[in-house]
Amino acid sequence: MGELTGRDFLKEVDFTPDEWGHLVELTGALKSARREGREEQRLRGMNFALIFEKSSTRTRAAFEVGARQQGAHTTYLDPSGAHIGSKESAADTALVLERMYDGIEFRGNSQDTVEALAEHASIPVWNGLTDEWHPTQALCDAFTMVESAGRPARDLSFAYLGDARYNTGNSMLTMGTMMGMDVRMVAPPEFAPSPARVELAREIAASTGARITITDDIEAGVAGVDFVHTDVWVSMGEPHGVWAERCRILAPYRVTAQVMGLAASEAKFMHCLPAFHDLETSTARLVHDLTGMRELEVSDEVFTSEASIVFDQAENRLHSIKAVMVATAS
Ligand code: CP
Ligand code: NVA
Repeated sequence: MGELTGRDFLKEVDFTPDEWGHLVELTGALKSARREGREEQRLRGMNFALIFEKSSTRTRAAFEVGARQQGAHTTYLDPSGAHIGSKESAADTALVLERMYDGIEFRGNSQDTVEALAEHASIPVWNGLTDEWHPTQALCDAFTMVESAGRPARDLSFAYLGDARYNTGNSMLTMGTMMGMDVRMVAPPEFAPSPARVELAREIAASTGARITITDDIEAGVAGVDFVHTDVWVSMGEPHGVWAERCRILAPYRVTAQVMGLAASEAKFMHCLPAFHDLETSTARLVHDLTGMRELEVSDEVFTSEASIVFDQAENRLHSIKAVMVATAS
């Protein structure tokens, strides 16, 4: 689908459901080609700038490795080593980088920044996560669900539990709707998707046939679903001071074996990662000191269970991000 050449990848709704479906298919084609040793390099000789205002393991790794496997080179720019935002506007940065690069990835707080980069740069700009959207994660998750179930997206259901009003929640709601899925957003009222996001999803559902449920009722929301998703309860950039209250409100939404028992018998557990399922990290230990909780959004039992496909999902960040780069830059 050559018509994606030159396009930006800023949020799901910038694409039609057909274009989005093409990106999901391309993810699978690139994964198979890699596995079977017949990958063709379509980005040879290109250079991509990767701007990270926030930390990353998977997204950065996927852009760097994916670009390299396709024959392109990358430059990692973080706030301590670049001027964007402090001494140089997004617009000026875009006008500089387009003289040297063939694509720009941006991860940071504000969706406005990635939109401004895209407005001013004549090369593709890719959103690696903002507070509002996480579209490369959504593409990965769309592909992972279809791959795992071996059934078309319109026959699949998922429940997303926890903080449903932030980047991953927004992207899951929108992606699932564009794919025509049975989408259940399961969260307490204060962490439910905003009315604007729900209205947008309902508009899209009118043409894709997606079914949308927004509920705080865990039993009703999870009943019979094929996939149970969650994300961290406090996202990057949020103040440390919100942890205690957030944990108190979201504790009932932890994905436990009991919650998985409400889903379909073959249901899988998914998480964009990183996950708080044990006390092996400094942040988890700090939260434990504050709240006494040893596991947060997912129990260690579920995270390490046979039903958990989180590392397949993490691998698919590579293939899906590669699809975004190939579709738009080649
Ligand atoms: N899921 C995800 O975006 O991971 P990183 O923060 O490690 O990039
Ligand atoms: N909601 C999380 C996603 C991490 C991949 C965050 O923004 O920190």
